[in-house]
Amino acid sequence: MIEIYNITNLKSLDELRIKVLGKKGVLTNEFAKLKDLNEDERKKVAKELNELRDEFSEKLNLKKEILEKKEQEQLLQKDKIDVTLFSKKVELGAIHPVNYTLDRIVEYFVNMNFSIHTGPLIEDDFHNFEALNLPNYHPARDMQDTFYFKDSNLLRTHTSPVQIRTMLKQKPPIRMISPGAVFRRDFDLTHTPMFHQVEALVVEEGDKVSFANLKYILENFLTYMFGDVKVRFRPSFFPFTEPSAEVDISCIFCNGDGCRVCSHTGWLEVLGCGLVDENVFKAVGYKNVSGYAFGLGVERFAMLIHKISDLRSLFESDLRLLEQFK
Ligand code: PHE
Repeated sequence: MIEIYNITNLKSLDELRIKVLGKKGVLTNEFAKLKDLNEDERKKVAKELNELRDEFSEKLNLKKEILEKKEQEQLLQKDKIDVTLFSKKVELGAIHPVNYTLDRIVEYFVNMNFSIHTGPLIEDDFHNFEALNLPNYHPARDMQDTFYFKDSNLLRTHTSPVQIRTMLKQKPPIRMISPGAVFRRDFDLTHTPMFHQVEALVVEEGDKVSFANLKYILENFLTYMFGDVKVRFRPSFFPFTEPSAEVDISCIFCNGDGCRVCSHTGWLEVLGCGLVDENVFKAVGYKNVSGYAFGLGVERFAMLIHKISDLRSLFESDLRLLEQFK
């Protein structure tokens, strides 16, 4: 009994319990010896043993409670958090200007009820060219210096193949954008072999979609991106749209007065667009529909928004540039 008082931790207490009440414990042994006694003695000794066991158990449990409480307190003391201490300095990263720009573009079109579609980066000739009214002999294929694989596959040169994939999968109405990486064999101040485009396609049954719809959404979108700018449409050519246009905004650096960035024209070209060519609809088996499409380069937008003059600097992971976007 006295031993119980001297014990200071739960482990020794349990060892003591086993020593006394365990299978080979002292008390258990005494109980086993009972069968050798005569009846009178057995009754007497059994009573004593039972009392002893009850008393021991009671003391044991009491001590256990006390020790458990003590250990809990020690644990709390050890784990105490000092909320007044300074924490380690956390280095925050910055969102890359291309991602920031892409997020803004996607945000606009999602708000305008466009859905987002993606497609593979490795494309085949049909989706990247053929179905987009760019047959094998077409000189416009030269506009897009293509990376080819050994088989007939290629790295997609624009996001327009996602138009084809979407139209082959679903019926009009379609209202989609497709953001993603594209690849061309080009590398200079304003070109990198990999860059990002956002494609948009709207198709409705009948002749519901007109150039006026296209003009409206682009003017609205470009003022959302660049603020108070003038927007102009210049006749152009793309094999997959007819009529086609290139879209300029008034130069955001000189307000249209003319400067080095806009080559003293007062205008900056920002995207290509048009009404979807009848041959594209034919290639995907659409009849009696109308639609518009446009495609833009995300890096070009990012350079204009952040006033970055060398496109290549966006891909050099130079912290001196990136840290400015925190
Ligand atoms: N795919 C064209 C390009 O990469 C952009 C574009 C898309 C133009 C849709 C018109 C319509 O240059």
